[in-house]
Amino acid sequence: EEPLSAIQEEILALKKERNAVILVHNYQVDAIQRVGDYVGDSLGLAYNAAETDADVIVFCGVHFMAETAKIVNPSKTVLLPEMDAGCSLSDSCPAEKLAAYREANPDLYVVAYINCSAAVKALSDVICTSGNAVKIVEQVPADREILFVPDQNLGQWVARQTGRQMRLWPGSCYAHVLFTARALEKVKAQYPGAPVVAHPECVEAVRDMADEVCSTEKMIGFCKTHPSREIIVATETGMLNRLRREIPGKVFIAGPTETCACNDCRYMKMNTVEKLRNCLRDMKPEITMDEAIRQKAYAPIKRMLDWSR
Ligand code: 13P
Ligand code: SF4
Repeated sequence: EEPLSAIQEEILALKKERNAVILVHNYQVDAIQRVGDYVGDSLGLAYNAAETDADVIVFCGVHFMAETAKIVNPSKTVLLPEMDAGCSLSDSCPAEKLAAYREANPDLYVVAYINCSAAVKALSDVICTSGNAVKIVEQVPADREILFVPDQNLGQWVARQTGRQMRLWPGSCYAHVLFTARALEKVKAQYPGAPVVAHPECVEAVRDMADEVCSTEKMIGFCKTHPSREIIVATETGMLNRLRREIPGKVFIAGPTETCACNDCRYMKMNTVEKLRNCLRDMKPEITMDEAIRQKAYAPIKRMLDWSR
């Protein structure tokens, strides 16, 4: 491994000084992943945020993830290197729209994918991530009709896995829906025998051709144990950083879109090592939240954390 750069060393020194923990999503650039105390998926990051005793949580991911950290651990200072790092899924479900829908359909049980705002979480009955969605939906009382927000692709996949009918909110991840079966067929022809692992935010035609559909954390386990040396990975390209670091003996091929050999999430990639250094130095941008919203948003997250143990 390359030695750390001056700015990475500076980040580690500032981290000590601030008694901070650096939580990093699997989609971040390699330079950020390498200074993380924990690198993982939304579920692992939520547990880590809840359990840390550091004074400061620096969240290298997108806004809803940092918000989740604040919701589960409100006495900590939560920093996000780039406040504009949003998420198209979160944007696809504004809280006012969900509130109106709930009012018109008061009997629905709302399962919200963690990729949503605190205000949407506050309107939900339980939260799930891609890593536990099946497990969570299976525990929803059988006599309740489910509304699944905001990802229709994950929702459709979970409905198939559980056999449970659900109303699906019409949201999607702009990046994952760029993967197509046709583009993946082409890369499969170049690497015959290589299995495809895909994120459940991908469209059905892509999920159907995948050998495994799972969260980013479960991709690590799948890739470690699969006998093939070459594996095609249909998710955001940052994932390949972690796979290549942890499984150096294998070849990971980025899932292509129709127009590009890789697929970066524009929001995830707004964070840079410079912004990470600056936020530890300046102690901003900081996540703040209305306490009433926070408490309402905490209940369905707590339910998720309990149900998915
Ligand atoms: P994971 O929880 O599987 O890491 O997914 C998060 C995400 O934003 C997927 O696009
Ligand atoms: Fe949101 Fe998609 Fe980016 Fe994940 S990859 S943060 S779902 S826009």
